[in-house]
Amino acid sequence: MSTQSTVRAVTTHRLLEMKQRGEKISMLTAYDYSMARILDAAGIDVILVGDSAANVMAGYETTVPMTLDNMIYHGRAVVRAVERALVVVDLPFGTYQGDSKQALASAIRIMKETEADSVKLEGGVEIIESVERILCAGIPVMGHLGLTPQSIHKFGTYTVRAKEEAEAAKLIADAHALQEAGCFALVLEKIPAVLAKRVASELTIPVIGIGAGGGVDGQVLVIHDMLGINQEFSPRFLRRYASVGEVMDGAFRSYIADVKSGDFPNEKEQY
Ligand code: KIV
Repeated sequence: MSTQSTVRAVTTHRLLEMKQRGEKISMLTAYDYSMARILDAAGIDVILVGDSAANVMAGYETTVPMTLDNMIYHGRAVVRAVERALVVVDLPFGTYQGDSKQALASAIRIMKETEADSVKLEGGVEIIESVERILCAGIPVMGHLGLTPQSIHKFGTYTVRAKEEAEAAKLIADAHALQEAGCFALVLEKIPAVLAKRVASELTIPVIGIGAGGGVDGQVLVIHDMLGINQEFSPRFLRRYASVGEVMDGAFRSYIADVKSGDFPNEKEQY
């Protein structure tokens, strides 16, 4: 029998303990092996294989075209690289909203074919049956409320959500419903900081924010955005930690110039 554990160091239980002792949770997206390897070694707590892969990896305008096979491809690549972080894979649009049986089948495919630790679904009470059924199969679920990009065609814009009282009240009710159902954590995207802080203080499960202020239990960003690979996207909530796009541009230009001039390869760079 192998003594090597397949359980990664960060578990859903560990995240709960972090919330209880007031330790903030760090989360970033990743979609491929090389990036996930660097990210995991740096000590990130949670890696989200987000369906934002649609935007930053595939160049789609929305996350709607992403398929289950696409997510499994990215999920597998990431999981192969990760030893420490908890890995969450997004269920893409159209794979869980139909009915709870379809949702369970989609989640099972993700878990079996990627060996990730959990799945994330967008929505509140309208998808609660799906959430419950997935949880009944022993699959940990992360919720996602506020700006839910899979519903972009309903919202019409990517502006801040739940600014009005009625939408804020629904979000609070949805957050409680997801916790009651058994979700281990919740993402709140692009909502007022005061509302996000209230939700985080009312819930016992960790609340991870993106564009939701500092009063929550952790933060998540899309890795291409925080690295400055995608230069055009600069919403107010985004802090850019590097200008990797500029570094890449410089490297590409140098390479092209060296090839054109015949400087590359030199004598030491050949056999
Ligand atoms: O797909 C994604 O990257 C996400 C994050 C923005 C939370 O859902």
